[in-house]
Amino acid sequence: MADPSKRPHKKDSPYAVDRGTIGAYEGETVTRRRLFTGGALAAGGIATTAFGLPALGFALGPLFERTEPRMFQDVGPVSDFNPQTYVAKVITLDATVGEAGKSTVYVRKFDPKRDRDHLHQPYIAISNRCMHLGCPVRYVAASERFICPCHGGVYAFDGKVAGGPPVRPLDRFYTRVRAGRVQLGDRFSLNSHLQRFSPRDPSNHLDGLWKYLYPARPTA
Ligand code: FES
Repeated sequence: MADPSKRPHKKDSPYAVDRGTIGAYEGETVTRRRLFTGGALAAGGIATTAFGLPALGFALGPLFERTEPRMFQDVGPVSDFNPQTYVAKVITLDATVGEAGKSTVYVRKFDPKRDRDHLHQPYIAISNRCMHLGCPVRYVAASERFICPCHGGVYAFDGKVAGGPPVRPLDRFYTRVRAGRVQLGDRFSLNSHLQRFSPRDPSNHLDGLWKYLYPARPTA
């Protein structure tokens, strides 16, 4: 058989040999080197996508978080509350599990002089679930602190962490007033700047890049 390299080159031929490609074999339309290079590039692209897509999902997830409450429940007339101290109220978080589905919430009126958050809630309703491992915290009026009995977690009057292992402020509930009565809506979580996020589990950080590592879960 004639040496393929000696054949005159035909630029428009489908065969690599005819086009004068060095290292090509008879009958090839693409050289093996080019085929392997293309395969390696494709595998690299697939691997990059496999890593990149979940990260992109976590990064964009907070943009689509639902932040509006679905339903409200009554916790008493507005005359029950004042801006100086919290009043403990019991609400139902899950009606399907009886007493276990109830929780204590500490409620007080918003104080424009004292409260620096921009959450636009007429009443401050603070969850008693500790943001370390979830033990029930208790409000101590004498020290204006929320105290956790489990590992010494301490929270300030506005629910921010004042000491111990908790990783973020106490969660809050949406509030509104209807016909002279205070109503609580869904729970929401906060970072250390009191910026609102959809509910997270205890021990989930929400500052900086941590918020992307702990996305919201429906059961949080
Ligand atoms: S559960 Fe509250 S400090 Fe650990």
